[in-house]
Amino acid sequence: MHDAGDRNHRILFTLRPAGTPVPESFGADTTAVPTPGPGQFLSRTLYLSLDPLYGKAMRASADEAVRLNPGDVMSGETVSQVLESRHPDYRAGEYVVARNGWQQFALSSGQGVRRLDPNRAPISTALGVLGLPGLVGYTGLIYMAEPRPGQTVLVSDATGPIGCTAGQAARIVGARAVGIAASAEKCEYAVSQLGFAACIHDHAGDLGADIHTACPEGVDVYFDNSGGEVLAKAMQFLAPNARVILCGMSEAYNMDVSPPGPSLETVLTSRAILRGIVVQDHLHRLPELEKVAGSWIRAGLFRYREDITEGLASAPEAFCRLMRGESFGKVLVRVAPEHL
Ligand SMILES: NC(=O)c1ccc[n+]([C@@H]2O[C@H](COP(=O)([O-])OP(=O)(O)OC[C@H]3O[C@@H](n4cnc5c(N)ncnc54)[C@H](OP(=O)(O)O)[C@@H]3O)[C@@H](O)[C@H]2O)c1
Repeated sequence: MHDAGDRNHRILFTLRPAGTPVPESFGADTTAVPTPGPGQFLSRTLYLSLDPLYGKAMRASADEAVRLNPGDVMSGETVSQVLESRHPDYRAGEYVVARNGWQQFALSSGQGVRRLDPNRAPISTALGVLGLPGLVGYTGLIYMAEPRPGQTVLVSDATGPIGCTAGQAARIVGARAVGIAASAEKCEYAVSQLGFAACIHDHAGDLGADIHTACPEGVDVYFDNSGGEVLAKAMQFLAPNARVILCGMSEAYNMDVSPPGPSLETVLTSRAILRGIVVQDHLHRLPELEKVAGSWIRAGLFRYREDITEGLASAPEAFCRLMRGESFGKVLVRVAPEHL
């Protein structure tokens, strides 16, 4: 139960940003804590996931289906705890992954909700390496790229939740993982903690020359989270029969128009395959991810990093930091303690 005096603090989208979002793009209000009707449950948000996708959704150019409009509660996936339930499948006290958005309390009909076992792994991982980001990194790498032992797997945004999953899965199946990341600190972490064979700092020098040095036999798999210039450069070094997995466009987070695409000449000459991945197509493999990557974590083979700020009020600044490319690890807000 929540306390009788509790109010629901919410963060709203207020102003479309010109370029990178700024704290002034957000407002706040409080409402009464809602009461569940038949077939609904009320949950308290514990962790809120911040995702660059919502930077796109703030733009007038976003698809109508996902576009945020001024006055909307900011959207977001959450780990939440059921407080009161009139839903036949959910009980008070259970942990769930829901989409409460940027607010402390929300009602749900159970649609799109999944139950979480808090004894299996830290509950925050359900929004990162054991959640949808991990799923897209794992399935894209294992089932779509199909790396073979000894092959070179190049991964951009290597220290984010998707990149760290794709890169470590590549290493664990015997491939040689090479990362691309945005700072020397991230590159050092990718090599020393995540076990990448090498990591290229993408703003430091000549990206093409650095890819060539780190991948002298060419790139058998390129797992792309960046789009834009990084994708264009990586495509110049494809090995015969390479596979390119198009997963994200972080270079375009703050743009209305996508950056120009790469030359497709090397796709032809290396007989490469390009495949896009959308995580919703792979939800049936979530139990496999939890089992396989969960066992890698427990065995000390697989690491992850979280960038956690405290309290719902910290969300706008944390989101702006993410959109400026200054975050390091999966970006989460701890909205309430796990155990009250
Ligand atoms: N295909 C799908 O179904 C699917 C699902 C979820 C997410 N995605 C996409 O996959 C990509 C990686 O997602 P993620 O969850 O691992 O990471 P994330 O938490 O979405 O973003 C963090 C990573 O993106 C890079 N980044 C952040 N802001 C940036 C900016 N303004 N400019 C350039 N780079 C920036 C950073 O890498 P560096 O600092 O190393 O550059 C950082 O590691 C994203 O593009 C995301 O939108 C795709």
